[in-house]
Amino acid sequence: MKTLTILGATGSIGQSTLDVVRQHRERFVIEALVANANVAQLAADAREFGARLAVTADPARYDELRDALFGTGIEVAAGPEAVLEAAARPVDQVMAAIVGVAGLAPTLAALEAHNTILLANKECLVSAGELFMARARALSVPVVPVDSEHNAILQCFERGNARAVERIILTASGGPFRTRPLEELASVTPEEALRHPNWDMGAKVTIDSATLMNKGLELMEAFHLYPVGVEQLEAILHPQSIVHSLVAYADGSVLAQLGTPDMRTPIAVALAWPERIATNVQRLDLALLGQLTFEPIDEERFPAPGLALAALARGGSAGAILNAANEVAVAAFLRHELAFTRIVPLVAEVLGAAERENMIAPLASLDDVRAADSYGRAKALELCDSSARAAC
Ligand SMILES: NC(=O)c1ccc[n+]([C@@H]2O[C@H](COP(=O)([O-])OP(=O)(O)OC[C@H]3O[C@@H](n4cnc5c(N)ncnc54)[C@H](OP(=O)(O)O)[C@@H]3O)[C@@H](O)[C@H]2O)c1
Repeated sequence: MKTLTILGATGSIGQSTLDVVRQHRERFVIEALVANANVAQLAADAREFGARLAVTADPARYDELRDALFGTGIEVAAGPEAVLEAAARPVDQVMAAIVGVAGLAPTLAALEAHNTILLANKECLVSAGELFMARARALSVPVVPVDSEHNAILQCFERGNARAVERIILTASGGPFRTRPLEELASVTPEEALRHPNWDMGAKVTIDSATLMNKGLELMEAFHLYPVGVEQLEAILHPQSIVHSLVAYADGSVLAQLGTPDMRTPIAVALAWPERIATNVQRLDLALLGQLTFEPIDEERFPAPGLALAALARGGSAGAILNAANEVAVAAFLRHELAFTRIVPLVAEVLGAAERENMIAPLASLDDVRAADSYGRAKALELCDSSARAAC
């Protein structure tokens, strides 16, 4: 049996992880479940799975969680320190699925404790990729990607033939606005942007999918996860989300991983890697599907992947600044305070300001990452305010 802690247990990835575990109760023991605001779900899951520990990051919710688990014998804790302690408890695997940069410190704490990391959180690699992977290598801790694209590459990348890999090709659905006339994009609402055609995900990643910033972040992640150069990374549109990514080799072969768009498949792959376990996801029926289509990314409609690749090539704190600015811009859009078409330009403006102000520098520590993150947030807020003023 494997011991498992889930960071971000109440989220989309956390709940899908518990669903896979539900099907394999004989294989997994839940050590800790960690969440933030959704204490009712956290308590229900802790009871169902007999977790040893349940933690909310919000100290104000401690009493609510304690009362909900009263009499169960499940240990209860609250606050950021408790999250770090939960992440550092020795287990076989930690599912790192807290959304946003808040996931960085707990995932690093899990890494330092030599817990194998099943990585869903993007910020560990986008904001701190070099530091994070250097630490993982130094400690010999496996980092197993959960995101469907990187998980697909995991399955297609022949480590023994790494030198023969020519390209990594990430697929992107194109989100809900792939064919919407460009002039209509400025007025799309958060409600429309949250309706992803293929995937059921958390709000932040769904908006990132609509701008294709998600693909940009994934290109950055792929660079840190696999031994390839920036110039070997590509993204293409594939509206059906059936081919989850591809690896092209020097002999002309292209290996792809296919499946219905359901995160329980990559989660199961990560949980069992290098073995395989069953899931009850819908099976792929290619004959029924009829056709799979691919198209290049229109850079005018979707400037985010190009921006992310430029930030990746720039290196140092550029990734952390890009990520922070994007988080602020997405949150402002979700609050109806920023137009959809302003999200990516605002991130570009923050990176431009960072360059002019000499804020793009090498990252030597988590403090450097935090400083870059704070700069990106502050600058994005400033620009959000001025764009809100301009809109008035
Ligand atoms: N969903 C997907 O299909 C998908 C695919 C690939 C990668 N990812 C990545 O995986 C991560 C999780 O995505 P998601 O879609 O599952 O997000 P989500 O549905 O928004 O869930 C986020 C989880 O993080 C918890 N959380 C938020 N702030 C926290 C904090 N400060 N401390 C502890 N826990 C905190 C939330 O708790 P409460 O709910 O209790 O507030 C929730 O459990 C993201 O980085 C995303 O980019 C997601």
